[in-house]
This record gives sequence, structure tokens and C-alpha cells, in this order.
Amino acid sequence: MINPEQYASFDNMCKSNASNIINEFAKDLKNISGKCMDVGCGPGDITKNILLPVLNSKATMIGTDIMENVVEYANKTYGDKERLEFEVLDIQTKNLPEKYISKFDHIFSFHALQWCNDIRQMFENIYCILRPGKTMLILSIARCKALYEPLEIMAQDIRYAPYMGDKKKYVGSFHYSARPREELKELLEDIGFQVHHCSHREMSNCTSTEIFMSMVTSQYTFAFLDKMPHNLRQEFKNELEHMFTEIKVKQYRDRLGNYKLHDEKKGTNIPAEYTVLVAYAQKNVA
Ligand SMILES: C[S@@+](CC[C@H](N)C(=O)[O-])C[C@H]1O[C@@H](n2cnc3c(N)ncnc32)[C@H](O)[C@@H]1O
Repeated sequence: MINPEQYASFDNMCKSNASNIINEFAKDLKNISGKCMDVGCGPGDITKNILLPVLNSKATMIGTDIMENVVEYANKTYGDKERLEFEVLDIQTKNLPEKYISKFDHIFSFHALQWCNDIRQMFENIYCILRPGKTMLILSIARCKALYEPLEIMAQDIRYAPYMGDKKKYVGSFHYSARPREELKELLEDIGFQVHHCSHREMSNCTSTEIFMSMVTSQYTFAFLDKMPHNLRQEFKNELEHMFTEIKVKQYRDRLGNYKLHDEKKGTNIPAEYTVLVAYAQKNVA
């Protein structure tokens, strides 16, 4: 995330997804005490205001994120040195620092893991971080045609390719999967998790293109925007927004059939379709 403040002012959709999942798993979570981690925590607002309050009052939390400036912002804004701190950690690292190994009692991660390409390494790290018998609750974006597919095209466009690098970075690992739920469950079980819940859900609560674009482009994956000359950056944003709107309108029309043309011009209030994977799993007792 390149701009934590901007992200925090536009993340209502993420807050609402996180709250819903927390409510759904409230019974499992209320007895969690000990050390917890929120992986890919972003600015820390969800960690502080949504996650921490549902845990046992003795639980402590470390929010981790790959971006230094995000962690700095989160510590300044929400860190309290008693129950909540934030640290830099790349959850895909091949060298997980010793201090995290088998030290945590629960891991959360919301809207972050889709940006990891090496998902086996990432889940193996989560597995290593947990103590035996302890749990993780994750929500990750699986499919998002209106966002991933334009980005994949743009990463191959000669204007943007030198800044964007490998197109795979911009497409969630499960986007083209025919069986995302089954694949995720198989992967987790293969790593050693006991999977208590794994579901693939359709979502349509992403309505404002403008807000969504501001939220998305304020993240780590879009750090390349800072390296572009101003004009090209604007061109990129306009093009992405245009393709995003076109796809979401088409999806909406295909779904409803009777959609009126005057709404389509603006593309406002038309929800973009996306899907999420939700998993609640436990590290095996060794
Ligand atoms: C969409 S934000 C999610 C923030 C918050 N969890 C939420 O639900 O709104 C994704 C976050 O994941 C972080 N991230 C991306 N790749 C990561 C990685 N490999 N390791 C740790 N964090 C990562 C980004 O920096 C960003 O802050």
C-alpha cells in the first residue's frame, strides 16, 4: 500500500466484509487469547476496531504488512504498546524470521493474500507461525474479472509494461481456477492444516468505481504508479477505470437482462462482481 491514509478513507467495503466474517465466526474467536497476527493488515483500522474487540481481553495482536510506510502509519495511529503493535513482514518470504516461528495462537488475514503469487510459500509460512493446534481465519479475493483482466492486459501494453513487470502479479492465484474452493482446501490439507471451513462466495457490494479505484491504487501492488510520469499515470488510471466500468456493466447486464441504458452511461451504483475464499483452519497438533 502506497497511501495508507487514502486506503483507510475508502475501505468501507473491506470493513463490512471483515465485520461479517468476524460475526460469522464469533463463537470460535471469542475464546482466543494469547498472541494473534493480522497478515496484510494495511493501515490498521480493521485490526484495531474490528478484530481486537472480538478477542478475549487478554489477547494481544501484531499487525504485519509488507510496506514499511503502512506499518509506520499503523503504529502511529493505532499502536498502543500493550495489546497492539505493527511490524513489517513479507508473508511470502523464504526466510521467515525465527521470532515468528510457532509463536502465534491465531492468524487473521483479510483482502491481502490475493496479492501473493507463491501461495504455497505464503500458507506454509502461516502454518509455521502458528503454534500446534492453533487457528487461522482468512478472507481473500478469488475472482475479480473487472479488475484482474484489465490489469493483465495493461501489463502487456508497451506503454505500461516497463513499469508493471510480470502480469501474474496482478491476477489473483484463484482467478482462473474452475474449482477455487477445492484447490484451496487441497493445498491447506497438503500443508498440514485441518480445514474446518472453506467456502467460495459471490460478492456484489462493490458499487462505486471511483472509491474502488482509489482504494485499489493506493496499495503496494500499485507502487509502480509512482515511477510513471504524471501524464502516463493519469492515462493508466483512466484506462483502468474505463475497462473496469465496462466489464462490471456487462456482467450486471448479463445477470439482470433488463438493465436500463441511462444508468449504464454513468456506471454508478452498479455493483462489480467478485468472489472471495474464506477459510478457517487449524494447524495439526504435532
Ligand atoms: C487490500 S489491503 C488489505 C488491508 C486490510 N487487511 C483490509 O482488509 O482492508 C492488502 C494489504 O496487503 C499487503 N500485502 C501485499 N502483499 C503482501 C505480502 N507479501 N506480505 C504482507 N503484506 C502484503 C499490502 O501492503 C496491503 O496493505
